[in-house]
Amino acid sequence: MSSHPTFSAHDLAHALDGLHPDLRILGPDALAGRHPGEDPANLNAGVMAQPASTEAAAALISWCRANHVAIVPQGGLSGLVGGGVSHAGEIILSSARLNRIIAIHADEETVEVEAGVTLEALQGALAPHGLTTGIDLGSRGSATIGGMVSTNAGGILAFRNGVMRHQILGLEAVLPSGEVFSDMTRVVKISAGPDIKQLFIGGEGAFGFVTRVVMKVEPIRPHRAVALLGVENAAGALQVAVRLRRHSALLLEAAEMMWPRYVRDHAALKGFDLSWLEGDSALLLIEVSGTSAEVSTALIEEALAELWEEADLRGGIVAQSSEQARRFWDLREDSVFYFAEFPDAPSFDVSMPPSALDTYVTDLFQRLSAIGSGLDAYVYGHIADGNLHIAIAAPGPLPTEMKALAEDAVYAGIHASGGSFSAEHGVGLNKRSAYLTHVDPVKQALARQFKAMLDPDMLFNPGKVPF
Ligand code: LAC
Ligand code: ZN
Repeated sequence: MSSHPTFSAHDLAHALDGLHPDLRILGPDALAGRHPGEDPANLNAGVMAQPASTEAAAALISWCRANHVAIVPQGGLSGLVGGGVSHAGEIILSSARLNRIIAIHADEETVEVEAGVTLEALQGALAPHGLTTGIDLGSRGSATIGGMVSTNAGGILAFRNGVMRHQILGLEAVLPSGEVFSDMTRVVKISAGPDIKQLFIGGEGAFGFVTRVVMKVEPIRPHRAVALLGVENAAGALQVAVRLRRHSALLLEAAEMMWPRYVRDHAALKGFDLSWLEGDSALLLIEVSGTSAEVSTALIEEALAELWEEADLRGGIVAQSSEQARRFWDLREDSVFYFAEFPDAPSFDVSMPPSALDTYVTDLFQRLSAIGSGLDAYVYGHIADGNLHIAIAAPGPLPTEMKALAEDAVYAGIHASGGSFSAEHGVGLNKRSAYLTHVDPVKQALARQFKAMLDPDMLFNPGKVPF
């Protein structure tokens, strides 16, 4: 962390004025009153540089290196681990004006795009070409491609298409030295030595500032059907997902699960009718695509009838309109509803092989209930790739000791099962101690060496992923 700011935000804004024609500088006055995004501390540096070209970003970065000013790269500010938090004395480097879609190669199913384009804007630009992104997530309206690269975002389609890392064919970034790393390849196959660009994917802005990428895209499959199913456990949900993945005429587009407390409280809040659901069951949201909406609906109804006994389904409804489908999705995507009641709820994002889910969740609830006078959690997530989001339902901030116990309860067994303490949200500020505890020491040491080589002055996103 930059503990000794040498420049005030006003000084920085003044010093950078006119540095490059494509560089806009916003000082404390311009930033005052701006929404800080997910983390209230995101804009604390009080000064933001918005380059509109790679050259302008390089000029800013070279200046910062010469003047020993730390840089906090920012995208859409929807990050959930404090990876974009900034402090006095630092400068925010925003991708907001790097917002061009450079080229859509429709027949090749690739797109060249600048880092500040939002996922939703990219999806909108691809739609007239009959294309869409092979990655999708709830915060599509704010999340930028550069931010998604930097966190190696996952989302809804990861079970089929993999995560951001698997979507990126080429990448350009400005290094902490001010040099431009340019590897804008447009092909899937490259067997030409180590793939250095991978360092920037999931690099959380620690190794450089991503300016543009080449991404794979895929055909739109517009003919959808959406169902909500009552399930006993993850095993039942996975049985449905596996069967649908093997269906010859339907493509599984999403398999999202919500555990009973999440279902109960969110449905009550939204006035969502669950009278069809048997008992206090979990919910599985399924989306499929087929040759027409009618065919998709008919085939999903047929497939579910066949699966009913075997997967022990506890009720289910297939959306009869796109509005109803949207309401099903709201139950899942408007997932932060619990922060209204539990604003300090510690939240987690873990992954494990899907077969480990039920044992993990059962043990988790037991471990949590044994803490203090008993804790409970909201659990939901991308079931088909084993990614769970967990929020501890605790009134008020947990005392430090209880918080540590809750973290232990969440992380117990994750590493041994072959999973990760962070699935798709990154490390940032909030998961630093988990990184230090759960990442192999040799891997940590290697990461420190890469950091020291690329950013010897530790100017890029200091204080986040620990180096
Ligand atoms: C989601 C975000 C929290 O899946 O990753 O809702
Ligand atoms: Zn998620």
